Amino acid sequence: MTKPTTTNTGIAVASDDESLTAGPQGPILLHDHYLIEKLAQFNRERVPERIVHAKGGGAFGELEITHDVSKYTKAKLFQPGAKTESLARFSTVAGEQGSPDTWRDPRGFAMKFYTEDGNYDLVGNNTPIFFVRDTIKFPDFIRSQKRLPGSGLRDHDMQWDFWTLRPESAHQVTWLMGDRGIPKTWRNMDGFGSHTYQWINSAGERFWVKYHFKTDQGIEFLTQDEADTLAGSDPDHHRADLYNAIDRGEFPSWTVKVQIMPLDEAEGYRFNPFDLTKVWSQKDYPLIDVGKWTLNRNPENFFAQIEQSSFEPSNLVPGIGFSPDKMLLGRVFSYSDAHRYRIGTNYAQLPVNAPKVEVNSYSKEGPMRYTFNPPDVRPYAPNSYGGPHADPELAGDEGLWAFDGEAVRAGYVQHAEDDDFGQAGTLVREVLDDAARERLVDNIVGHASDGVSEAVLVRVFDYWSKVDPDLGKKVEEGVRAGQKK
Ligand code: HEM
Repeated sequence: MTKPTTTNTGIAVASDDESLTAGPQGPILLHDHYLIEKLAQFNRERVPERIVHAKGGGAFGELEITHDVSKYTKAKLFQPGAKTESLARFSTVAGEQGSPDTWRDPRGFAMKFYTEDGNYDLVGNNTPIFFVRDTIKFPDFIRSQKRLPGSGLRDHDMQWDFWTLRPESAHQVTWLMGDRGIPKTWRNMDGFGSHTYQWINSAGERFWVKYHFKTDQGIEFLTQDEADTLAGSDPDHHRADLYNAIDRGEFPSWTVKVQIMPLDEAEGYRFNPFDLTKVWSQKDYPLIDVGKWTLNRNPENFFAQIEQSSFEPSNLVPGIGFSPDKMLLGRVFSYSDAHRYRIGTNYAQLPVNAPKVEVNSYSKEGPMRYTFNPPDVRPYAPNSYGGPHADPELAGDEGLWAFDGEAVRAGYVQHAEDDDFGQAGTLVREVLDDAARERLVDNIVGHASDGVSEAVLVRVFDYWSKVDPDLGKKVEEGVRAGQKK
């Protein structure tokens, strides 16, 4: 027998189909509280979408450590043989919730690890670098990629205007316009922690670290034409691909690797190792094997487990610390602030966000709070009644580094080979092959030929010439040829 429909408070209802009216043609009666509950609940089904990375999908899985990196970090989740339950969410950056998965954009690569020391979140992208290097530029950058305030339209002029005025974007824009700007599926892309983080071992020694998640499915991409077609015919292409693959028992996995830089090598390194627009050369710092990360379980409820999932770079566990990266340090503030607005003060209580360990926090109350400490736990610290107390030993784990105390607004310390276009040029000349370079030119020409003003175009040609003179020439020729048609 099917179960009776009930109200939210468990009372069986008389009809799923008809409202209560005064006679068949009469007005609807206000005391049809079930109808009112249904309409009112419906009006409140949405939470605000994420200001960035609004369109995405995700799944649960497991991180397994296959190699011994204990000399670099004491973090329990990275000890040999450790297995840690995990949540992933992949996304595009600029598009809204209903936007096509195949728009050209970086992909978010967010991971939550439910460790025995509390949650560790690694909130990265499918690229090792970013468009800007200081948090203060993030809102400007994002606005330039979203919509014009008047028309509500996306606008390539706005995108190129910003990029060419901020040349530190060149490395990331080269990635974006290349093949990796539209992955074939989320399973076919690598993930990166992107920032430099700190690892701390059990002897208290510190190292700088960068994370790489190498897809075991192989890198595959979509051409612009394929992506444009899919944007119309199958806008949820990537979300569906991940869900269906896991449903079929084809569990995607990534091989986890890190680059490790001894702490004292940072100062003399040829690039500023904390600048998010730069990579560390793998010749200088080769990849070290760590483990395997596998996704093997679909969400049972998209809203509860994916939409309301809340990732935050501030979630670090002992053995892992921050670095002087000015993007990372801003992000440490930004995410929990966003969650309090988007989900609510008590977002961390939701099962998908809650750690799998006991929470002994002094935070209390607020909207929808339903967990609480036992009544004999005093709500203040210190107290003389055995309440939780902080562990001063952990102070060293917060990723401290030496800095001078002067308050300044300044760029990054310049290292020997630091400039905005150098690594982008290396990518074009040394990593891409001829065919990939040709597609890069086509993608840039196509994008820059769509509504970009002459004044901005002049800067676009200059920008690409600085990345690589030959590339710049081809971009200019391509755009000008299109204008003559
Ligand atoms: C999402 C801020 C840079 C990766 C978000 C959200 C905010 C934000 C407010 C929405 C959070 C939510 O509502 O759940 C910032 C700021 C940045 C920055 C202020 C620069 C200072 C980055 C960088 C990366 C990144 C450099 C990658 C390396 C992500 C990802 C998400 C996200 C993957 C989606 C997380 C999810 O799936 O829920 N960011 N972000 N962000 N950001 Fe950033």
